[in-house]
Amino acid sequence: MALLGAAAPAAFGQVDELLPRPAEVESLDGELVIDGAFRVEVEACGDARVGRAAERFVGRLARQTGLVFFTSAGEHPAPPALRVRCGAGAPHAPTWRTDESYRLEIGRDGAILSAPAADGVLRGLETFLQLVAPGPKGFRAPGVRIADRPRFPWRGLLLDCARHFMPQEIIERNLDGMAAAKLNVLHWHLTDDQGFRVESRTFPRLHQMGSDGLFYTQEQVRQVIAYARDRGIRVVPEFDMPGHTTAWLAGHPELAALPGPYSIERKWGIFDPTLDPTRDDVYHFLDRFLGEMARLFPDEYIHIGGDEVNGKAWNASPRVAAFKQEHGFSTNEQVQAYFNGQVARILTRHGKKMVGWDEILHADLPKDIVIQSWRGQAPLAKGAREGRMGLLSFGYYLDHVSPAAAHYAVDPLAKEAAALTPEEAARVLGGEACMWSEYVSPETVDSRLWPRLLAVAERLWSPADVTDVDDYYRRAESFSARLDFLGLQHRSGLSPMLERLAGTSPPPPALRELAAVVEPVKQYVRGKTSPHTSRTPLNRLVDAARPESLEARDFRKAVDAFLADPSRAARREEVRRRLDRWRRLDAELQPWTARSFLLAEIAPLSRALADLATAGLEALEIVASRGKADPAWWEFRRGVLDAPKRPAHALEIAALPAVRRLMEAARDGS
Ligand code: ACM
Repeated sequence: MALLGAAAPAAFGQVDELLPRPAEVESLDGELVIDGAFRVEVEACGDARVGRAAERFVGRLARQTGLVFFTSAGEHPAPPALRVRCGAGAPHAPTWRTDESYRLEIGRDGAILSAPAADGVLRGLETFLQLVAPGPKGFRAPGVRIADRPRFPWRGLLLDCARHFMPQEIIERNLDGMAAAKLNVLHWHLTDDQGFRVESRTFPRLHQMGSDGLFYTQEQVRQVIAYARDRGIRVVPEFDMPGHTTAWLAGHPELAALPGPYSIERKWGIFDPTLDPTRDDVYHFLDRFLGEMARLFPDEYIHIGGDEVNGKAWNASPRVAAFKQEHGFSTNEQVQAYFNGQVARILTRHGKKMVGWDEILHADLPKDIVIQSWRGQAPLAKGAREGRMGLLSFGYYLDHVSPAAAHYAVDPLAKEAAALTPEEAARVLGGEACMWSEYVSPETVDSRLWPRLLAVAERLWSPADVTDVDDYYRRAESFSARLDFLGLQHRSGLSPMLERLAGTSPPPPALRELAAVVEPVKQYVRGKTSPHTSRTPLNRLVDAARPESLEARDFRKAVDAFLADPSRAARREEVRRRLDRWRRLDAELQPWTARSFLLAEIAPLSRALADLATAGLEALEIVASRGKADPAWWEFRRGVLDAPKRPAHALEIAALPAVRRLMEAARDGS
């Protein structure tokens, strides 16, 4: 019974399992035996990160194989089975210009990993680990020759730690996941209306009054940066301004365009409080604050946000009105461009370059800023034509709860960017997946990120022609299991949440099966299903359920196969088996929904699934017998396809579209 997860078991250690797919890969005969004599030798690497990476590599290999390994010849005399060679260049902070290419050759007699720079070694070690698996005679890695390099140099994840604070260890384990997926930028969204999450020693009221005590100390920030750097990941902090600043204003109302008082925002949405763009003292404040942050964060970039300034505070401010008149500005966009220009000068003074959301795209800004496109692909192309570098995030919003396939299909150099010249296209540095955290808590963040983040990771690393989405899903399943070995809880977190919901351990099997075939409502519909604030616990079935139901994906494939040839009994049986199970879940779930306050809200969902499955089973029989449904049947049953628009449980039945196809096939006849 494969009621959870994909049908095929994940096989480890195959060349065709690699994710992201390498640029060039060629299988070789033979395999490298990995036993207790396996040893890694690092030759002439000037960067100490490589030695530490080799230690971690050996630790992970030991955990994977249960064998004891050594990294130094002093401890173990055997010849090294893996030689690591990298350019002897001095250590440097990674930038988007860092060479991450590597070559890995594995054969019977050993393996060689070579790279021009340390970062390539880090990528290659991850590739090697994906190739290790138990074989009949012990552990082994297949013979292979790989020449690999990223398609895009900026492959990021935005993690919103403002809406929900994410403790340091959660960031660090996800950095491990990012490194495994060859992602190389953590875009740390540290400030927003709902929280100011970084310690400022210059202006301590910022974090003291803007964070409810949930902020990163500067020491913690340094630790996260060091952790990321060791894994070849840059940390780009975002201090969103001039909008999204309510939490700043809790401690510093004097920065606002309108008089306070202000307090931390508890609701989700776009809010009015905005910095005052007219006053020198606001820029002096930003100069001192950004100067402090420029010293804390070593990356060459600082993100200044710039999104969603609704203009209400500026429109209501007599000072801003006078300022507009004085400068000949007729729009708030012009005012914001002025503000951004001031901030850009401040950043330049502190040796930093600016990243901002696509709202900041304005002719007057310096050419070396980076534009992050979130409202479409057009600003990316426009910026590239004008000589500006850009990142794509439109299409990579993980909080939209879309399937991995949707993200996988989004290419930074497609659509408006497809017509760019090679020189312009080179300004498209890559992209970032965005994990906004209104509906994401420390408990659920891993499962909201993974495995879907892998789709973006592969799109940004692998060659443009790696587009077979079914193949992606197959590999993502096995990668997903490996992420568990790294300590990520995107899979293991499910059971405790179900147990808590039901008030029993282990969780009722029927609840697990229901959870496997539903998905959270998409986009931002959840906020319309019931009131949510930053204090609303995220502890319901919608939080336990995976963003993408692989069970429903498998079912859809089974329905497609059946409809392609309804005479095949095995295909019909595959569909029938699932529908029949879903039909019977409701009776098993009723005692639990009656007994648990937290589960009561899913009683209608469970009934709807039973009704849907019943109609699907009837349709299946009609189609299988090559019949055509009585129109009265369709009229009687079609209502099962009407899912509520704003269901209180905030869930969708992910199998519904496939049942719809089945029912329509019955209605229309063959
Ligand atoms: C954004 O989603 N407001 C950048």
